[in-house]
Amino acid sequence: DRSIKIAPSILSADFANFGQEIQAIEAQGADWVHVDVMDGHFVPNLTFGAPAVKAFRPHVKTVMDVHLMISPVDAYIDAYADAGADYLTAHIEAGPHIHRTLQAIRGAGMKAGVALNPGTPADAIEHLLDLTDLVCVMTVNPGFGGQKFIDLTTKIRKLREMIGDRPVHIEIDGGVDPTTAPLVAAAGADVLVAGSAVFRGGSVNNPEVYGENIRTIRAAAES
Ligand code: DX5
Ligand code: ZN
Repeated sequence: DRSIKIAPSILSADFANFGQEIQAIEAQGADWVHVDVMDGHFVPNLTFGAPAVKAFRPHVKTVMDVHLMISPVDAYIDAYADAGADYLTAHIEAGPHIHRTLQAIRGAGMKAGVALNPGTPADAIEHLLDLTDLVCVMTVNPGFGGQKFIDLTTKIRKLREMIGDRPVHIEIDGGVDPTTAPLVAAAGADVLVAGSAVFRGGSVNNPEVYGENIRTIRAAAES
């Protein structure tokens, strides 16, 4: 399914209220829920781990899309399967054995994603395409929400061409808003992560703003 899916990143949610925030974005039209796990080692920021993600699970009625910005990965795969991740995405830069990691993620019953930092070329995943359900193209250097979008449309185009008719999603993560969404959608992306552009101006007491923000991004991407 290549239709546009909006995946709000709860990195921009109220950290004291994840359950209500997840319910609010889903009620307001989110297609997936994007969960950013950071370890203070692979990236210069730290969020939460598998026990917290497991606590989010009952609130997620759509798709729980877990983005691991951690190194190493393999020792934690079973914990995220137990936490109920639908998609589990690991960074190609997080270790020497991404091929093994992707096999292990599928082996644990999840969809396998591979993420590429802005400096990593599209070619890096040439031999991973049959092990992958999702390619996450980082359009910021991972670690923080609210950063400036890096235009990598030629990389996205190249990935879409490499993927061919395989059922692989291209997800864009970082700086997606109503201005940048049309560029990445035209280049072949179908899953758009957005943190600040979804949560900005709203709250669990004022969730209609989330809906308005999601609709505006979707409309721009589909234009
Ligand atoms: C960045 C995270 C993103 C982040 C996106 O390291 O992986 O998911 O929350 O935030 P925005 O949409 O604000 O750039
Ligand atoms: Zn992310």
